[in-house]
Amino acid sequence: MDNVFYRNLTKTYLEVDHGEGIYLYDKDGNRYMDACSGAAVSNLGHAHPRVIRAMTEQAQKVAFSHLSRWTSGPIKELADLVASLAPGSLNKLYLVSGGSEATEAALKMARQYYLERDGKTGKYRVISRWKSFHGNTIGALSMTGDKRRKKYAPLLLNFPHVAPAYCYRCPFGKEQETCAVECALDLERVIKLEGADTIAAFIAEPVGGAACGAIVPHKDYFKIVREICDHYDILLIADEVMTGFGRTGAMFAIEDYGVVPDMICAAKGMSAGYSPLGAVIVKDEIYETFKQGSGIFVHGHTYGGNPLSAAVAVAVIRTLIEDNLVENSRVIGSYLLEQLREKLQPFWFVGDVRGKGLMQGVEIVKNKATKEPFPAALGLAEKLTVTLMKHGVVVYPGSGNADGENGDQFLLAPPLIITKEQADELVNAMVAGFAEFDKSISQYK
Ligand SMILES: Cc1ncc(COP(=O)(O)O)c(C=O)c1O
Repeated sequence: MDNVFYRNLTKTYLEVDHGEGIYLYDKDGNRYMDACSGAAVSNLGHAHPRVIRAMTEQAQKVAFSHLSRWTSGPIKELADLVASLAPGSLNKLYLVSGGSEATEAALKMARQYYLERDGKTGKYRVISRWKSFHGNTIGALSMTGDKRRKKYAPLLLNFPHVAPAYCYRCPFGKEQETCAVECALDLERVIKLEGADTIAAFIAEPVGGAACGAIVPHKDYFKIVREICDHYDILLIADEVMTGFGRTGAMFAIEDYGVVPDMICAAKGMSAGYSPLGAVIVKDEIYETFKQGSGIFVHGHTYGGNPLSAAVAVAVIRTLIEDNLVENSRVIGSYLLEQLREKLQPFWFVGDVRGKGLMQGVEIVKNKATKEPFPAALGLAEKLTVTLMKHGVVVYPGSGNADGENGDQFLLAPPLIITKEQADELVNAMVAGFAEFDKSISQYK
């Protein structure tokens, strides 16, 4: 027994000793493929020499200076680099320390934008989707649409939610052939019901994360959403905390939909786990509104924009570009998805295998034909994860996908440096793990 207050007090945690490339090693020397990069974080794998060098050099110069007083070379370099990569006029970088801080900042920025622009005091709510995850702080959790919000419901803000873009379990009962992207149109329905004059923004993940197991919206989804947002004067926020910086095979996942949002929230892969960092990438027009208005956005967090994290992010992003890792994510991602579909779909309990680039999800079900989920009490997403760990693979489980309570899925998001041979190794280990899991759940067939 140690004195750490873990997040799940009923679970035993393995102790990590070190990491190298796409592998993590425990205290007993056992090797695990980090097939979820922690939580879609360690995009360059572990102990990357270039990042370690950049960290060491920056730490020797100055690790921390507070943003209320100082700017620094690394934050300016990072902002220029991000501006050169982000679509459209998304050129301004507001720095924080993580994903929840980024979505929280975007929500406050959206509210203040309408105050600054035309003194609209009532336009402050944010619409989001069911089955989304936007973080654990109160504002971020108010936008979140998965079961993690339930316990804290009395603390949350009165923010509306719309239907998820969830083709496997279409909320409108449609199939691919009959789909008219009703999930995108649902945004307009909710805006009309709630009143556009109360809504500041719509926030969505371009590809869903662990809360839903990498659901990929219809190709026209964000085009329709963009038009609706423009029509009702509502900002579009792409939450790319998981997807940003190459995860789905594009620098930003939203680019594949041919749409430019008003803000992008980023974190995780931006500093790839080497030092905490998050950011909101903001359109010039919004920045100018603040500049011409009060000139102040009071949303500082102490560690936001520290030079050490910024130097790490510069090294991470330059490595992504120079080593062609976004392309690797696209190419190995589609190979991996094809292999997983071929080798996992035959299992009687595998309902869906989906994703984009190196962000993929597997959903398991009790009945493939009806898509009936296993009861939540069985905790099968967690059990499957533990079985896969015995086969040397770490994935990221989630539950509640089917109806808010039941439903088991997991996320696969290996480091973007993964090779084709390692992808084969991953698939073989998964097949062996699934075969063992199959035996352990045969009584539910
Ligand atoms: C899409 C998305 N937004 C926000 C967050 C919250 O980020 P953090 O855990 O860094 O606060 C997450 C975390 O998983 C996420 O996936």
